[in-house]
Amino acid sequence: MAATYNDDDTVNVMNLHEVTRTNAGDLICCIGKPKKTHENIEKRKAFTLTLANEAIMKEIDYLGTVSGYRVPDKFERTGLKAVKSKFVDAPIIVGSPVVIECELIEFIEKGNFTAVLARVVNMAADETVLDEDGKIDTGKIGMIFYESFSNSYYKLGEKVGKAWSEGKVFL
Ligand SMILES: Cc1cc2nc3c(=O)[nH]c(=O)nc-3n(C[C@H](O)[C@H](O)[C@H](O)COP(=O)(O)O)c2cc1C
Repeated sequence: MAATYNDDDTVNVMNLHEVTRTNAGDLICCIGKPKKTHENIEKRKAFTLTLANEAIMKEIDYLGTVSGYRVPDKFERTGLKAVKSKFVDAPIIVGSPVVIECELIEFIEKGNFTAVLARVVNMAADETVLDEDGKIDTGKIGMIFYESFSNSYYKLGEKVGKAWSEGKVFL
């Protein structure tokens, strides 16, 4: 979910699945130019990202279905609440176990779509989703994913192996 402020400081949130991390640790989010979120990021140069979970699936699906241009108070209608980030000019959805606070580096525009290159200014996680070493335990977040073959939401499955380790058998 990408959360931004509207001109009047109300909150707008959209569903965003096209996100990747660069080698430099920045993020690239593909956001359609006609989205309200696009305009808000252009103006405030900031947004936050939060992970979706099953408890708020209906709310987040609605936020990805209706534009803030058509329903300016769509976030308020869901009953979800937000607080202002201490690091960037953007809201954080209350109750999000993990939040990534971002500032705009650059818009890379291609036709109707923009690759939004953003710097991660801060990342915060609720203690309940940390492991014994203080690292994020993905299994505890309960996040869901959008799967575009069948247009469905899926829960995270079980861990099946360690990256940069499983292939060592061929070294
Ligand atoms: C599951 C799901 C994933 C989505 N992923 C993206 C995405 O990666 N990029 C995008 O521009 N729109 C995406 N959308 C569509 C926007 O969330 C949708 O157009 C939303 O209404 C835009 O809101 P806004 O105009 O208030 O910013 C997605 C929608 C859904 C339901």
